[in-house]
Amino acid sequence: MLEQLNEKDFGTPRRISEQEVTLEIDGMKVTVVAGTSIMRAAAESGVNVPKLCATDSLEPFGSCRLCLVEIEGRKGYPASCTTPVERGMKVRTQSPKLQELRKGVMELYISDHPLDCLTCAANGNCELQDMAGVTGLREVRYGYDGENHLDSKKDESNPYFTYDASKCIVCNRCVRACEETQGTYALTISGRGFESRVSPGQDQPFMDSECVSCGACVQVCPTATLQEKTVIALGQAEHSVVTTCAYCGVGCSFKAEMKGNEVVRMVPNKDGHANEGHSCVKGRFAWGYATHKDRILKPMIRSRITDPWKEVSWDEALTYAALEFKRIQKKYGRDSIGGIVSSRCTNEEGYLVQKLVRAAFGNNNVDTCARVCHSPTGYGLKQTLGESAGTQTFKSVEHSDVIVVMGANPTDAHPVFASRMKKRLREGARLIVIDPRHIDLVRSPHVEADFHLQLKPGTNVALLSALAHVIVTEGLLATDFIAQRCEDKAFQQWRDFVALPENSPEAMHEVTGVPAELVRGAARLYATGGNAAIYYGLGVTEHAQGSTAVMGIANLAMVTGNIGREGVGVNPLRGQNNVQGSCDMGSFPHELPGYHHVSDSTTRHLFEQAWGVEIQPEPGLRIPNMFDAALEGSFMGLYCQGEDIVQSDPNIQHVAAALSAMECIVVQDIFMNETAMYAHVFLPGSSFLEKDGTFTNAERRISRVRKVMPPKAVYADWEVTIQLAKRLDYQMDYAHPSEIMDEIARLTPTFHGVSYAKLDQLGSIQWPCNDEAPLGTPTMHVDHFVRGKGKFIITKYVATDEKVTRRFPLILTTGRILSQYNVGAQTRRTENVQWHEQDLLEIHPHDAEERGIKDGGWVGIQSRAGDTVLRAKVSERMQPGVVYTTFHFPESGANVITTENSDWATNCPEYKVTAVQVKPVTEPSEWQKKYTRFSKVQHELLGKAQQTSGKDKTIA
Ligand code: SF4
Ligand code: SF4
Ligand code: SF4
Ligand code: FES
Repeated sequence: MLEQLNEKDFGTPRRISEQEVTLEIDGMKVTVVAGTSIMRAAAESGVNVPKLCATDSLEPFGSCRLCLVEIEGRKGYPASCTTPVERGMKVRTQSPKLQELRKGVMELYISDHPLDCLTCAANGNCELQDMAGVTGLREVRYGYDGENHLDSKKDESNPYFTYDASKCIVCNRCVRACEETQGTYALTISGRGFESRVSPGQDQPFMDSECVSCGACVQVCPTATLQEKTVIALGQAEHSVVTTCAYCGVGCSFKAEMKGNEVVRMVPNKDGHANEGHSCVKGRFAWGYATHKDRILKPMIRSRITDPWKEVSWDEALTYAALEFKRIQKKYGRDSIGGIVSSRCTNEEGYLVQKLVRAAFGNNNVDTCARVCHSPTGYGLKQTLGESAGTQTFKSVEHSDVIVVMGANPTDAHPVFASRMKKRLREGARLIVIDPRHIDLVRSPHVEADFHLQLKPGTNVALLSALAHVIVTEGLLATDFIAQRCEDKAFQQWRDFVALPENSPEAMHEVTGVPAELVRGAARLYATGGNAAIYYGLGVTEHAQGSTAVMGIANLAMVTGNIGREGVGVNPLRGQNNVQGSCDMGSFPHELPGYHHVSDSTTRHLFEQAWGVEIQPEPGLRIPNMFDAALEGSFMGLYCQGEDIVQSDPNIQHVAAALSAMECIVVQDIFMNETAMYAHVFLPGSSFLEKDGTFTNAERRISRVRKVMPPKAVYADWEVTIQLAKRLDYQMDYAHPSEIMDEIARLTPTFHGVSYAKLDQLGSIQWPCNDEAPLGTPTMHVDHFVRGKGKFIITKYVATDEKVTRRFPLILTTGRILSQYNVGAQTRRTENVQWHEQDLLEIHPHDAEERGIKDGGWVGIQSRAGDTVLRAKVSERMQPGVVYTTFHFPESGANVITTENSDWATNCPEYKVTAVQVKPVTEPSEWQKKYTRFSKVQHELLGKAQQTSGKDKTIA
């Protein structure tokens, strides 16, 4: 689906109003909604008024005076960007006088602008150049020798874009984009009059300022002043293809601007429903990993993990894998092998992996990384509301009056949604943050939380009960909503439970550490402040009571009637790009696609008929059970597509021991990741740029992923799974991923109406999409809950087994940062390392001082699972007693520390609570030394394979 490179810019944003206004522009009758600017009204009717400081993603500013028009009956020449339409207005956009005025403006600009158009990076995509042409500029009367900025120094500090002040026309677009679109306020115009120039921070280089490299300023700059370095290197693109970001669960739509098969830049798509033209540093700039030299492009096999890899043909690798799986099943039984579905791969690829396991392996031993992140969301929301997914669109936040952010850090992990949220907060919505850390949202430019409930890690359920206690005992309930929409008996039992004195904020203070009056204030605000929405993340789910906390959140939404319309709801912020999709596709061992339990014979028979096999009615093994079974000697083979379980799962040493015990591990990935070091077959994966398919984001939005270049290793991941199935004597016949989606739609009621044709037509679709909702479902549970009546569930707080002791007196909690993504396999192979080149241990100054720990010094962190060494970052963001780190670098070993404690319902690991001791050290931990040796050996074994010459590398 090729797109136009330069989209039409209407100059000012679209207005929403029920009133229409008719006016005349250049003799034409034009009707637009009230509040529309003359500039936009003209553009919508095909008349383009010259402009420089206006662009349709930003509020009009009226500084360049190029867009002047004549209005009958009015004196002077008003700016069409800042003048709203009025009924009966008669506007002229062209006249000799207007031409003269515009030419005059352009002369001033050009007299202080380098005339290097032919060699300028923006040549072919420069609005200043275009306006010079449109206004008919032929000479500059002031000459070029006056005072100018032509010698201004270039700022090249940002790895992805340059700032060339000599080309700046001080249109202020970048400053406004940083404020309005991104909400970071990193830019100002410093100086006055002729001296005025764009300034990051306090006249600092971009990299030293608060800039988070989202690219919004670069996007709106009408000249080459702010310019992508890739465009400077490669020149302007020649075509573009719409696709979806492969990083986080926001699922931003991008135009991949291409030159042949080479990406020139990724431009956020204005028509993208999840992001509406905005981006973050990862999707916008950090795509270079896709062509990184570390990509493994040839299939490889080896008998033992101590052997060198041997490059083989696709046929040989797949045949070897299939024979090994058959051998293992013959020796150890049908259930001795399994597969892992990737939340980074497409829906279609995930569907095929679980189908391979169920149909070709003949068991239900399939799981996905959602096990370690949002499986409690699936369970908790299904129990209470009836559907395992968030209830809203991202846009819904524009209608929220109160926003609760619990256990999530959107400015780092879901940045584009965070910008949208911050915009609403700047408009006056109130904010409650529930988090052990002082995350950026608590206080950032023009945003301040009304309440920060800085609870102790592991006490979410206690806090949720305390909030519910206030709502129930102070009579802040939505009684009508509860009576009409919820199960009465369950409600009464729950109400009586939360009303118990032991659940009061005062009683819970000792558990949560949060002062009772703050809990009472937050509860009152949530219940009475208007539309209230809860956004939560892994700080809720990754606990021993993760599922309980999710149900507690759903209870709060129901008791206050905050569900079933815009501006409210229960919104899990999903981590990986397709974690919602991988769950939807039946990647859990107990569920077929569409969340139907494998024990449900009707659904099972439907799939059995379609697939021509018998499906086992008993759930298969979850990932942690696979590890345990491997160590017991009953689980011996694994097909792992696009996941790095060694780095991402808790208690690395346990995972590594389990993998070492298996006889055949098949890893399909784009890089030699940590898991692949334990593998016997390596199948080269394909990046999101190399295949067709779909991703489903945190709002249940299904978006197309489109192939912009051929797979570097010849085959897309879905093609490889088909070939593996064939060698396991199971035939899968699909010529294109659209045919896989057609099968998913046929077999899954919530997807009945989904097709590639409809996705092309609508841009994206939020499931359920079927006969009842042919265009999809932006808001769920509108008139009734998916399960019929909403069900309150009692959520009793049970303290985790992971307790601080004299030996381990601190709690370690983990998370992410903006520039890195998950295990870092992608972002570590980009310039994003300039922002974060190693994982750090954040520690409160008091705890640091007590232990003699200095900022930047090495610290050993020890838990009952293991120990590692990181550099310390002494930070007031932490509360005393709590330390924090990220897990983006394998050598940091954050998951050497985390334990096997897990959620009671789903086995989701308790990453957020590990009792640790921290002390200054001088050398790496024993694990790190062992890891370094093992990793070195594995890279040598890989190096040997890469020296061998290639044979036929295609699938036979
Ligand atoms: S850097 Fe670009 S967008 Fe910003 S003021 Fe200069 S020309 Fe305008
Ligand atoms: S890249 Fe984003 S954060 Fe940085 S200055 Fe530009 S708009 Fe602001
Ligand atoms: S917010 Fe998420 S989906 Fe959007 S560009 Fe950033 S990483 Fe990609
Ligand atoms: S575009 Fe209207 S004043 Fe600049």
